[in-house]
Amino acid sequence: MKRFAMLCLLLALGSPVLAADEVYQGLGQQPGIVKIVDTFVTLLQADARVGHSFGEADVPHLKEKLAEQFCVLAGGPCRYTGKEMATIHDGLNITTAQFYALVEDLQIAMERHGIASRIQNKLLADLAPMQRDVVTR
Ligand code: HEM
Repeated sequence: MKRFAMLCLLLALGSPVLAADEVYQGLGQQPGIVKIVDTFVTLLQADARVGHSFGEADVPHLKEKLAEQFCVLAGGPCRYTGKEMATIHDGLNITTAQFYALVEDLQIAMERHGIASRIQNKLLADLAPMQRDVVTR
C-alpha cells in the first residue's frame, strides 16, 4: 500500500506541469527564440493567407517585439516593450482563419528548429487567448 502511495506521488510529480522557465529553455533561450522568430516571419510573409497584411510592416521591429513577447510567455528573463495586442491589430480586419494560419506557421517554424512537441504546445496554448484581441471580423 505504501509503495502504491509512493507511485501515485511520483506520477503526480511527473505530471506535465512545466518548471517556470522550462519553455524558455526548451526554445533554446534568447538565441533559439530569435531563430524561430526569423523563420516564423519569413513563413508569414510567404503565406498567401496572411502575407499581404505584413506588406507595410517594419519587419526588424516586428521580429524584435515578437521575440520579446515569446520570451516573456516562455518564462524567460525579458520584458515586452511593444504595443498592446488589441491596439496594434485594430483595423487590420483579421479573421479567425488568419489567426489559425499564423499559429500554424509558428508551429512549422518551431518544428523546423527541432523544438519538442510539449514545448511547442505550451507556447501555442499561451498564445490562444490572444485570439480575442487580434481577431476583429
Ligand atoms: C497570437 C497571434 C498574434 C500575436 C502574438 C501577434 C503579435 C504581434 C506583435 C508582438 C506585434 C508587434 C507589436 C508592436 O509593434 O509594438 C504585431 C504586429 C503586427 N501583427 Fe500580429 N500577432 C498575432 C496575430 C496576427 C495576425 C493573425 C495577423 C495578420 C494576419 C497579424 C498582423 C500583424 C501586423 C500586420 C503587424 C504590424 C503592424 C504595424 O507595424 O503597424 N498579427 N503582432
